Amino acid sequence: MDIKTAHFKKAIFAPVSLAANTLFAASDAINDIARYVHYFKVANLEFKPRADDIFIVTYPRSGTTWLQMILYQLATDGSMEIDHIAQKVPWFERLIDYRIWNAKDFEAMDSPRLFKSHLSAKDMPKGDCKYIYMVRNGYDVAVSYFEFYCSHLGFKGDFDDFFKKFIDGDVQFGSWFAHAADWKAMSKTSDSIKSSQILFLKFEDMKNDFDCQLDKIINFAGFKIPADRLPEIRNRCSFKFMKQHEDKFDHITSQIWEKGYKRSSFIREGKSGQGKRRFNLEQETNFQSLLKKFHIEEL
Ligand code: A3P
Repeated sequence: MDIKTAHFKKAIFAPVSLAANTLFAASDAINDIARYVHYFKVANLEFKPRADDIFIVTYPRSGTTWLQMILYQLATDGSMEIDHIAQKVPWFERLIDYRIWNAKDFEAMDSPRLFKSHLSAKDMPKGDCKYIYMVRNGYDVAVSYFEFYCSHLGFKGDFDDFFKKFIDGDVQFGSWFAHAADWKAMSKTSDSIKSSQILFLKFEDMKNDFDCQLDKIINFAGFKIPADRLPEIRNRCSFKFMKQHEDKFDHITSQIWEKGYKRSSFIREGKSGQGKRRFNLEQETNFQSLLKKFHIEEL
């Protein structure tokens, strides 16, 4: 490349690159606004909370899945003939955000509806329903979240890099400090929710005295659990049992379910000449005219 061409390319490159970056930033911002407006519409205007709904709310890595399993066991016969816990205790804001569910889908759920959520106190839909917030020691959350970032989100930094992001709230679900503080404040005094609607739990108490916390949950939710079911519930909610059945709780499988993917459907039939049978007459006529238009009747 001669010097003139190199200078010309350099002179063009800087403004084009600046324009591209500005457009990307603007499109990200518009995208964020559209997502928020969509969330607000479905969650706050269309979704109708019921008195026996229970929202399980946490900052990520604080025992959300554990609580999902506990509530599922308490609210149903707890059958493990499920593909994933997300089918029974779906992730409220995610199904809205991914545009997978609308208000009608939520309406079609049987009561008591159980939801998982990482929403902040401000963004949580308010209604005459119940909320269980579980907080976990922030040091443990930071380490568990770092490990999750590395194992599931392709994070390549070390713990110090992650720590800076965590402290600044520059992670998926914002500041752990603000999340925990806002929910704690809302569990005490709030204009929009009565404090009796919120059960505030600690992960550490669940570890130290599971039975006592289980009792609290049962009383708060108003479940009637026969004493002879408790040993099975205790066993199924143990770390050992959940680890053994990890595919029914893990993040990857929940995404498969949330997005409606079907397993074993990618390498499908591998046959030839079967496609046309699916077309109706109108579709076939349309198709034929395009083959003609592009001169590819015979390939
Ligand atoms: P660690 O990474 O410290 O092991 P969440 O479901 O909110 O993402 O939380 C995940 C954390 O809860 C993980 O913590 C996980 O091991 C822990 N956990 C999940 N089920 C548990 C159980 N039955 N007993 C104790 N901890 C559990």
